[in-house]
Amino acid sequence: MGGHYEAARTAAVAIGNRLGAHDALAVLGSGWTDAARALAPVEREIPITDLPGFPAPAVAGHGVTALTLALGDTRVLALTGRAHPYEGHDVHTVVHGVRAAVLSGCRRVVLTNAAGSLDPERRPGSPVIIRDHLNLSGLNPMTGPAPPEDLPARFVDLSELYDPRLRSAVAERVAGVGEGVYAGLLGGSYETPAEITMLRRWGADLVGMSTVLEAIAARHLGAEVFGASLVTNMAAGLSADVLDHEDVLATGREATDRLVDLLRAALTT
Ligand code: HPA
Repeated sequence: MGGHYEAARTAAVAIGNRLGAHDALAVLGSGWTDAARALAPVEREIPITDLPGFPAPAVAGHGVTALTLALGDTRVLALTGRAHPYEGHDVHTVVHGVRAAVLSGCRRVVLTNAAGSLDPERRPGSPVIIRDHLNLSGLNPMTGPAPPEDLPARFVDLSELYDPRLRSAVAERVAGVGEGVYAGLLGGSYETPAEITMLRRWGADLVGMSTVLEAIAARHLGAEVFGASLVTNMAAGLSADVLDHEDVLATGREATDRLVDLLRAALTT
Protein backbone atom coordinates (compact mmCIF):
# COMPACT_ATOMS: atom_id res chain seq x y z
CA MET A 1 0.00 0.00 0.00
CA GLY A 2 1.50 3.31 -1.10
CA GLY A 3 4.91 1.66 -1.60
CA HIS A 4 6.07 4.33 -4.05
CA TYR A 5 5.47 7.05 -1.50
CA GLU A 6 7.26 5.08 1.22
CA ALA A 7 10.23 4.72 -1.14
CA ALA A 8 10.15 8.48 -1.78
CA ARG A 9 10.06 9.16 1.98
CA THR A 10 13.10 6.95 2.49
CA ALA A 11 14.93 8.84 -0.26
CA ALA A 12 13.84 12.17 1.26
CA VAL A 13 15.54 11.24 4.54
CA ALA A 14 18.68 10.21 2.63
CA ILE A 15 18.73 13.58 0.80
CA GLY A 16 18.57 15.35 4.17
CA ASN A 17 21.34 13.21 5.62
CA ARG A 18 23.70 13.46 2.65
CA LEU A 19 23.01 16.96 1.31
CA GLY A 20 21.05 18.84 3.96
CA ALA A 21 17.87 20.87 3.53
CA HIS A 22 16.87 22.66 0.32
CA ASP A 23 14.30 25.24 -0.70
CA ALA A 24 13.92 24.20 -4.32
CA LEU A 25 14.57 21.33 -6.71
CA ALA A 26 15.92 21.83 -10.23
CA VAL A 27 15.76 18.90 -12.66
CA LEU A 28 18.27 19.59 -15.41
CA GLY A 29 17.55 18.39 -18.93
CA SER A 30 19.97 18.23 -21.85
CA GLY A 31 21.78 21.54 -22.25
CA TRP A 32 20.88 22.84 -18.78
CA THR A 33 23.55 21.29 -16.54
CA ASP A 34 26.32 23.68 -17.60
CA ALA A 35 24.02 26.62 -16.93
CA ALA A 36 23.21 25.32 -13.44
CA ARG A 37 26.90 24.90 -12.61
CA ALA A 38 27.57 28.44 -13.86
CA LEU A 39 24.74 29.75 -11.70
CA ALA A 40 26.13 29.22 -8.21
CA PRO A 41 28.87 27.43 -6.27
CA VAL A 42 28.37 23.68 -5.85
CA GLU A 43 28.39 22.99 -2.12
CA ARG A 44 28.05 19.22 -2.20
CA GLU A 45 27.70 16.62 -4.92
CA ILE A 46 26.98 12.88 -4.81
CA PRO A 47 26.24 10.20 -7.42
CA ILE A 48 22.47 9.93 -7.71
CA THR A 49 22.72 6.18 -7.17
CA ASP A 50 23.91 6.87 -3.60
CA LEU A 51 20.28 7.79 -2.90
CA PRO A 52 17.79 4.91 -2.51
CA GLY A 53 15.35 4.18 -5.33
CA PHE A 54 17.17 6.07 -8.10
CA PRO A 55 17.94 3.92 -11.15
CA ALA A 56 21.46 3.77 -12.58
CA PRO A 57 21.95 6.27 -15.44
CA ALA A 58 21.09 4.79 -18.83
CA VAL A 59 24.27 5.89 -20.56
CA ALA A 60 27.34 4.37 -18.90
CA GLY A 61 29.86 7.04 -17.90
CA HIS A 62 27.20 9.74 -17.91
CA GLY A 63 27.28 10.16 -14.17
CA VAL A 64 24.03 11.65 -13.01
CA THR A 65 24.58 13.50 -9.75
CA ALA A 66 22.57 15.20 -7.04
CA LEU A 67 24.15 18.47 -6.02
CA THR A 68 23.50 21.35 -3.70
CA LEU A 69 23.84 24.88 -5.11
CA ALA A 70 24.15 27.82 -2.76
CA LEU A 71 22.25 30.54 -4.59
CA GLY A 72 22.36 33.40 -2.12
CA ASP A 73 19.90 32.46 0.62
CA THR A 74 18.28 29.82 -1.56
CA ARG A 75 19.57 26.27 -1.29
CA VAL A 76 18.88 24.38 -4.48
CA LEU A 77 18.94 20.63 -4.94
CA ALA A 78 19.83 19.95 -8.57
CA LEU A 79 19.59 16.61 -10.36
CA THR A 80 21.82 16.50 -13.46
CA GLY A 81 19.66 13.94 -15.24
CA ARG A 82 16.39 12.05 -15.05
CA ALA A 83 14.78 8.68 -15.76
CA HIS A 84 12.47 8.47 -18.80
CA PRO A 85 9.64 6.01 -19.48
CA TYR A 86 11.18 5.20 -22.88
CA GLU A 87 14.14 3.66 -21.04
CA GLY A 88 11.71 1.15 -19.60
CA HIS A 89 11.23 2.86 -16.26
CA ASP A 90 7.95 2.62 -14.41
CA VAL A 91 6.06 5.93 -14.02
CA HIS A 92 6.75 5.92 -10.27
CA THR A 93 10.49 5.52 -10.85
CA VAL A 94 10.33 8.46 -13.28
CA VAL A 95 8.86 10.77 -10.62
CA HIS A 96 10.75 9.30 -7.64
CA GLY A 97 13.31 12.13 -7.48
CA VAL A 98 10.64 14.82 -7.59
CA ARG A 99 8.58 13.12 -4.86
CA ALA A 100 11.65 12.59 -2.69
CA ALA A 101 12.77 16.22 -3.09
CA VAL A 102 9.33 17.66 -2.27
CA LEU A 103 8.91 15.33 0.73
CA SER A 104 12.38 16.43 1.90
CA GLY A 105 11.20 20.04 1.96
CA CYS A 106 11.60 21.56 -1.53
CA ARG A 107 8.67 23.93 -1.91
CA ARG A 108 9.45 24.78 -5.54
CA VAL A 109 10.21 22.44 -8.44
CA VAL A 110 11.90 23.76 -11.58
CA LEU A 111 11.76 21.29 -14.47
CA THR A 112 13.91 21.84 -17.54
CA ASN A 113 14.25 19.95 -20.81
CA ALA A 114 15.36 20.02 -24.43
CA ALA A 115 12.51 20.23 -26.91
CA GLY A 116 11.65 20.43 -30.58
CA SER A 117 9.92 23.63 -31.71
CA LEU A 118 6.57 23.56 -33.53
CA ASP A 119 6.65 27.33 -33.99
CA PRO A 120 8.54 28.31 -37.17
CA GLU A 121 9.48 31.64 -35.54
CA ARG A 122 11.09 30.00 -32.54
CA ARG A 123 14.52 28.71 -33.47
CA PRO A 124 17.05 26.40 -31.81
CA GLY A 125 18.76 28.13 -28.89
CA SER A 126 15.58 29.77 -27.60
CA PRO A 127 14.61 29.16 -23.99
CA VAL A 128 10.82 28.97 -23.56
CA ILE A 129 8.70 29.06 -20.39
CA ILE A 130 6.18 26.22 -20.26
CA ARG A 131 2.70 27.73 -19.92
CA ASP A 132 0.82 24.43 -19.91
CA HIS A 133 1.23 20.89 -21.15
CA LEU A 134 -0.39 18.07 -23.10
CA ASN A 135 0.37 14.80 -21.34
CA LEU A 136 0.37 12.43 -24.31
CA SER A 137 2.63 9.85 -22.70
CA GLY A 138 -0.25 7.49 -21.94
CA LEU A 139 1.04 7.45 -18.37
CA ASN A 140 0.17 9.29 -15.17
CA PRO A 141 1.93 9.23 -11.79
CA MET A 142 -1.47 9.35 -10.06
CA THR A 143 -2.23 5.79 -11.21
CA GLY A 144 -1.49 2.80 -9.02
CA PRO A 145 -2.13 2.44 -5.29
CA ALA A 146 -3.88 5.43 -3.68
CA PRO A 147 -1.55 7.91 -1.95
CA PRO A 148 -1.21 7.35 1.83
CA GLU A 149 -3.85 9.05 4.00
CA ASP A 150 -1.52 11.82 5.17
CA LEU A 151 -0.86 12.98 1.59
CA PRO A 152 -3.33 14.61 -0.82
CA ALA A 153 -5.66 12.29 -2.70
CA ARG A 154 -5.36 11.70 -6.44
CA PHE A 155 -7.52 13.62 -9.00
CA VAL A 156 -5.33 16.63 -8.38
CA ASP A 157 -6.51 19.87 -10.04
CA LEU A 158 -4.13 20.81 -12.87
CA SER A 159 -5.84 23.99 -14.08
CA GLU A 160 -2.87 26.11 -12.91
CA LEU A 161 -0.19 23.46 -12.98
CA TYR A 162 2.64 25.79 -14.05
CA ASP A 163 2.45 28.53 -11.44
CA PRO A 164 1.09 31.71 -13.11
CA ARG A 165 2.73 34.10 -10.62
CA LEU A 166 6.13 32.49 -11.14
CA ARG A 167 5.72 32.47 -14.92
CA SER A 168 4.99 36.16 -15.16
CA ALA A 169 7.72 37.06 -12.65
CA VAL A 170 10.32 35.09 -14.62
CA ALA A 171 9.12 36.49 -17.96
CA GLU A 172 9.62 39.99 -16.53
CA ARG A 173 13.17 39.24 -15.38
CA VAL A 174 14.41 37.49 -18.55
CA ALA A 175 14.30 39.68 -21.65
CA GLY A 176 12.58 38.23 -24.69
CA VAL A 177 11.65 34.83 -23.28
CA GLY A 178 8.27 33.57 -24.51
CA GLU A 179 5.79 30.97 -23.32
CA GLY A 180 4.51 27.80 -24.94
CA VAL A 181 2.51 24.62 -24.53
CA TYR A 182 4.71 21.53 -24.16
CA ALA A 183 3.51 18.21 -25.57
CA GLY A 184 5.05 15.37 -23.56
CA LEU A 185 5.16 12.13 -25.53
CA LEU A 186 6.30 8.66 -24.53
CA GLY A 187 9.13 8.94 -27.04
CA GLY A 188 11.73 6.41 -27.93
CA SER A 189 11.69 7.85 -31.44
CA TYR A 190 11.21 11.36 -32.76
CA GLU A 191 7.83 12.22 -34.27
CA THR A 192 6.63 11.89 -37.85
CA PRO A 193 5.77 15.12 -39.74
CA ALA A 194 2.09 14.04 -39.62
CA GLU A 195 2.27 13.75 -35.85
CA ILE A 196 3.78 17.24 -35.65
CA THR A 197 0.95 18.60 -37.84
CA MET A 198 -1.54 16.99 -35.44
CA LEU A 199 0.23 18.38 -32.37
CA ARG A 200 0.20 21.91 -33.83
CA ARG A 201 -3.56 21.66 -34.37
CA TRP A 202 -3.89 20.50 -30.79
CA GLY A 203 -2.17 23.64 -29.56
CA ALA A 204 1.36 22.43 -28.87
CA ASP A 205 4.35 24.77 -29.34
CA LEU A 206 7.04 22.41 -28.06
CA VAL A 207 7.52 18.65 -28.13
CA GLY A 208 9.59 16.40 -25.91
CA MET A 209 9.75 13.20 -23.91
CA SER A 210 9.86 14.32 -20.27
CA THR A 211 8.62 16.82 -17.69
CA VAL A 212 4.83 16.27 -17.75
CA LEU A 213 4.81 13.34 -15.30
CA GLU A 214 7.19 15.09 -12.90
CA ALA A 215 5.08 18.25 -13.03
CA ILE A 216 1.94 16.32 -12.03
CA ALA A 217 3.73 14.50 -9.20
CA ALA A 218 5.21 17.76 -7.85
CA ARG A 219 1.87 19.56 -7.98
CA HIS A 220 0.13 16.67 -6.23
CA LEU A 221 2.49 17.05 -3.26
CA GLY A 222 1.84 20.80 -3.12
CA ALA A 223 5.00 22.20 -4.70
CA GLU A 224 5.05 25.31 -6.86
CA VAL A 225 5.89 24.09 -10.38
CA PHE A 226 7.90 25.94 -13.02
CA GLY A 227 8.99 24.48 -16.37
CA ALA A 228 11.24 25.63 -19.18
CA SER A 229 12.43 24.17 -22.48
CA LEU A 230 15.54 24.86 -24.50
CA VAL A 231 14.66 24.52 -28.18
CA THR A 232 17.33 22.26 -29.67
CA ASN A 233 15.76 21.60 -33.07
CA MET A 234 12.78 22.32 -35.28
CA ALA A 235 10.18 19.54 -34.95
CA ALA A 236 9.91 16.95 -37.74
CA GLY A 237 8.82 18.40 -41.08
CA LEU A 238 9.33 22.04 -40.07
CA SER A 239 12.86 22.52 -41.27
CA ALA A 240 13.87 22.28 -44.91
CA ASP A 241 17.55 22.75 -44.20
CA VAL A 242 19.74 19.97 -42.94
CA LEU A 243 20.54 20.72 -39.32
CA ASP A 244 24.13 21.89 -39.06
CA HIS A 245 25.74 20.46 -35.94
CA GLU A 246 28.15 23.40 -35.56
CA ASP A 247 25.26 25.87 -35.76
CA VAL A 248 23.38 23.94 -33.09
CA LEU A 249 26.43 23.87 -30.81
CA ALA A 250 26.95 27.60 -31.35
CA THR A 251 23.31 28.39 -30.55
CA GLY A 252 23.64 26.23 -27.45
CA ARG A 253 26.69 28.20 -26.30
CA GLU A 254 24.98 31.49 -27.04
CA ALA A 255 21.97 30.30 -25.04
CA THR A 256 23.90 29.46 -21.85
CA ASP A 257 23.82 33.02 -20.48
CA ARG A 258 20.06 33.17 -20.96
CA LEU A 259 19.59 29.75 -19.38
CA VAL A 260 21.57 30.95 -16.35
CA ASP A 261 19.35 34.07 -16.13
CA LEU A 262 16.22 31.99 -16.47
CA LEU A 263 17.26 29.48 -13.80
CA ARG A 264 18.23 32.27 -11.43
CA ALA A 265 14.87 34.00 -11.93
CA ALA A 266 12.91 30.75 -11.56
CA LEU A 267 14.75 29.75 -8.37
CA THR A 268 14.93 33.09 -6.59
CA THR A 269 11.74 34.94 -7.57
N1 HPA B 1 10.91 15.63 -30.36
C1 HPA B 1 10.82 15.00 -29.19
N2 HPA B 1 11.69 15.19 -28.20
C2 HPA B 1 12.68 16.07 -28.41
C3 HPA B 1 12.82 16.76 -29.60
C4 HPA B 1 11.88 16.53 -30.64
O1 HPA B 1 11.93 17.11 -31.74
N3 HPA B 1 13.92 17.58 -29.48
C5 HPA B 1 14.41 17.36 -28.22
N4 HPA B 1 13.66 16.45 -27.57
